[in-house]
Amino acid sequence: MPCCTRLVALFTSDIKPMRGMISKLHCRLRSATPALRRAVHSGTRPASTAASKLKADLPLTAEEVYAREERYGAHNYHPLPVALEKGEGLYVWDVDGNRYFDFLSAYSAVNQGHCHPKIIAALNAQASKLTLTSRAFYNDVLGAYEEYITSLFGYNKVLPMNTGVEGGETACKLARKWAYTVKGVPKNQAKIIFANGNFWGRTMAAISSSTDPSSYEGFGPYMPGFGLVPYNDIAALENALQDPDVAAFMVEPIQGEAGVVVPDPGYLTAVRQLCTKNNVLFIADEVQTGLCRTGRRLAVDHEGVRPDMVILGKALSGGVYPVSAVLCDDEVMLTIKPGEHGSTYGGNPLACRVAMASLEVLEEEKLAENAEKMGQLLRAELLKLPKDIVPIVRGKGLLNAIVIKETKDYDAWRVCMRLRDNGLLAKPTHGDIIRLAPPLIIKDHEVRECADIIQRTIMSF
Ligand SMILES: Cc1ncc(COP(=O)(O)O)c(C=O)c1O
Repeated sequence: MPCCTRLVALFTSDIKPMRGMISKLHCRLRSATPALRRAVHSGTRPASTAASKLKADLPLTAEEVYAREERYGAHNYHPLPVALEKGEGLYVWDVDGNRYFDFLSAYSAVNQGHCHPKIIAALNAQASKLTLTSRAFYNDVLGAYEEYITSLFGYNKVLPMNTGVEGGETACKLARKWAYTVKGVPKNQAKIIFANGNFWGRTMAAISSSTDPSSYEGFGPYMPGFGLVPYNDIAALENALQDPDVAAFMVEPIQGEAGVVVPDPGYLTAVRQLCTKNNVLFIADEVQTGLCRTGRRLAVDHEGVRPDMVILGKALSGGVYPVSAVLCDDEVMLTIKPGEHGSTYGGNPLACRVAMASLEVLEEEKLAENAEKMGQLLRAELLKLPKDIVPIVRGKGLLNAIVIKETKDYDAWRVCMRLRDNGLLAKPTHGDIIRLAPPLIIKDHEVRECADIIQRTIMSF
């Protein structure tokens, strides 16, 4: 029996006795209104969910893994076909025991390497002590984390959240509140400017500022009060900031999802100067670029500029738990009063311990320095690839991308499939661009080995 059929049989056999009942119910439902039908249908789900749970521990083949996700999960991703079951350091393993170099690092969340022992130990120790109190009460870890992260990054205060996009939402809310209470923008008039090509997540606010139709199309109406300027265009920004109602400019120091777009040297310095001149907050979205990924603790450190707000996420937990944060000074942070913003999980003791351990690993293992050195080596190797196939290599530290000149014989997706076959996992971002972002613990000889795999793969077409 083919794998997929076997899988379907596996799930359906458990619910056979229920079939009669379900079909009777179905007949009655045919005459019901569509809304009612949806409601009653969801009521039948627990039985099949329970059935699949019973089988969840059986080892599955890769095909079965794909088929199960396809059947029961939303189709909101298009994963590369590889079914992973284990990760350690630079490597991940699939269900057949094949080992791969991870050159995505879960979109830069796993900067410290998979299952870093110090981070996992912190998680385990706190998990068996106290996990969640909510912010209705104090807990004995949050303050320690707040003190640690604010001193490390040199800001007065931190606001802890969970996902990266919540960090962005928080920064936008802070900017609006500051605009009304400090800058004096008339009620409900505040604007936030973003750069074309930005990506900061999938919430309604985040897609409302997006220029990518696959992010925003079909989800309107959109959030008002957002403006756009071209990325890396100081003149356009200067023009946009003339509007006295502008509260903030929110920007990625390198645009990750847009395809690792690196602005010209001096861009961030000019952003800082323009924001200061026009009394506009400079918000750096460092969710992907921060935490040593680009060869500095923050990507803005390359130009020695200090944003008014910094958003962190992803590697703030080393990939074990959703942890994000917004850092800023009192003038901005204290505009939000009790009850005006928060999250049940934000600042929970488990997240705080994990975040402290994750930050300590970055510092103790000098991962910014390593990312800087290994990034230089990687780009030097990638620049040896034939220019007619790989015309562009770009990036900073270990946030890099190659652009594939696509033909009828190969494209970025097919290159990634063949990289997978050769033991290296990477994913196209925006068509012809492949992001290359391994964990920051990668060593000299491993960079060379991976560059060799990439070269062999490219030459094999
Ligand atoms: C720059 C940037 N900001 C924000 C986000 C959103 O983070 P999350 O997916 O954790 O919500 C991402 C995710 O890729 C990102 O790259």
